[in-house]
Amino acid sequence: MIKAILACVVGILLAVPAYAAASPASGKSLKHGEFLVNYGGCHDCHTPGWSEHGGEAPKDMLLTGGGTNFQGPWGTTYPPNLRLYVQKLSVKEWIANLRALKSRPAMPFWTFRYLSDKDLTDMYAYIHSLGPAGKPAHEWVAPGQDAPAPYLKLVLPPPPAVQPTGH
Ligand code: HEC
Repeated sequence: MIKAILACVVGILLAVPAYAAASPASGKSLKHGEFLVNYGGCHDCHTPGWSEHGGEAPKDMLLTGGGTNFQGPWGTTYPPNLRLYVQKLSVKEWIANLRALKSRPAMPFWTFRYLSDKDLTDMYAYIHSLGPAGKPAHEWVAPGQDAPAPYLKLVLPPPPAVQPTGH
């Protein structure tokens, strides 16, 4: 009887690390999330100084927003601070937001359609693991209104006459 109880306890103890490893924040998920953020180019716009320093920034600057801002016919847009953004959301809300996203330029929101829910979960886990840092980025400024610099000013050609039919 004692042996059976001991076997049970050992079984439970062994099962705990296995369960922890399967949770969204396992080392493998974080690595995959980091890979998606890096390869997905999120830093290009959401990390201040990233492009200027050839794709590098100290950890406390990563994804803190307002990296590369854009001005065009839509007004002026400032990439939000994603480290603060994920603090306010559950992983479910993050996935729902990204699936429904229709941002102004130059956010390439259409790229998320190529990612699975698991990919988006790993991305969330990685950004969350960086912890909160920085300040909220400036809000969107409407066309013709004063907007704080710096920003890239885009002079765009008219859109193509024939719309592409799919992807
Ligand atoms: C070319 C620049 C650029 C790149 C690359 C980029 N973003 Fe953005 N992102 C923006 C801008 C600008 C905004 C703000 C748009 C607006 O105000 O409508 C934004 C907004 C967002 C938002 C806020 C959505 C909301 O709720 O309004 C999220 C989340 C986001 N980006 C995530 C990402 C992730 C994750 C990546 C990498 C896969 C990424 N972005 C890559 C420029 C970029």
